[in-house]
Amino acid sequence: MEIRKDFLPVLRPVADDQELISIGESLNSGWWGKGPRVAEFEKEFAQMVGAKYAVAVTSATHGQDLVFKAMGISNADVINPTISFMTTAVVPLWNNCSSNIVDVERESLTIDPIDVKKNLKKNTKAIIAVNHAGVPADIDSIREFYDGFILEDCAHSCYTPGAGTKGDVAVWSFQAVKTLPTGDGGMITTNNKELYEKLVPMTWLGISSTYSRVAIQNSQKKTPGYAWDYEVNVLGYKCYMIDLTAAIGLVQMKKLGSNLEWRRYIQSRYNAELTPKVKRPVWSETVQYYCARVAPEHRNVLISYLAEKKIHTSVHFKPLHLYEITKQNRSYNIADVEWLKLISLPCHAGMNEDDISYVIYWVNKYFEGVA
Ligand SMILES: Cc1ncc(COP(=O)(O)O)c(C=O)c1O
Repeated sequence: MEIRKDFLPVLRPVADDQELISIGESLNSGWWGKGPRVAEFEKEFAQMVGAKYAVAVTSATHGQDLVFKAMGISNADVINPTISFMTTAVVPLWNNCSSNIVDVERESLTIDPIDVKKNLKKNTKAIIAVNHAGVPADIDSIREFYDGFILEDCAHSCYTPGAGTKGDVAVWSFQAVKTLPTGDGGMITTNNKELYEKLVPMTWLGISSTYSRVAIQNSQKKTPGYAWDYEVNVLGYKCYMIDLTAAIGLVQMKKLGSNLEWRRYIQSRYNAELTPKVKRPVWSETVQYYCARVAPEHRNVLISYLAEKKIHTSVHFKPLHLYEITKQNRSYNIADVEWLKLISLPCHAGMNEDDISYVIYWVNKYFEGVA
């Protein structure tokens, strides 16, 4: 097979005229900040995931941080899994908590309930359970011995049916390579009214949104203009989503079903056609990443070999306890072994049949003649 000229990215977002039109409408409306499109996106997203409330934010990272601040989780112990993105270990640190990083299950690579139980502390105030690569974390097993606060990290599970319903709150990501991308952005969903009402003003320095004050004034027809005055009685931050972002999100949400179907198709072709030397990931409805595993002695060699063939791959993830800032004083029987095998193959809406065949061909070619 001839080597392609352009790189095949491991992940990438795809847009067409629909996003351009939607952004154009927001630009022309004169309302670019947080307004009606954000409200519409929040409503539709909450409906999709079956939550009572949704709060759109600038990223999942700031969404998680805001939840910690609204819940008053500080100066405590917070458990989170080592196979994850830096967010889940660093948000506890931002809130003066210790980041108590635990091991993962061998097959699913999600937080290991047995290791959670072993590492629970008297002052454990929260657990962050990550649905790794779209595979749901086993929150039911954690609930058997822990009734405290659970934040379900749904950055990879938009949308796996049932995701976001097991924890006390769920946080989703719309970062550029996620299944519902907006460039950057996130959503907090919950059924907890009190938490929701706390979160909303906290996204903007404790101030109720200008758009909501215009709407109040219009509906009550008290005085001309809008209600410019506001009270601030809660310490807030600045992490609300704006309408230009929601304009992309609303279109991407309509495409989500077909996008996910295509990702599952890529997953099924990889599963069917890759050599048995490649271990398949646990089946995922969202396939945020196709996290294959190969023998550790081949992993880095295969990454370089595929790069020479113009195929980008990645590793999701190097364990968090291996970074200087989040290192821990313990060992990790599963993560330390399994992460050395991880290689994410390209899987996204921008791939066509030939791209999938191209990846399969070169991965299988690499393993030809390998004992
Ligand atoms: C597991 C996990 N949690 C949180 C995040 C943070 O998402 P965001 O980039 O929207 O802040 C990511 C980003 O990739 C992630 O992989």
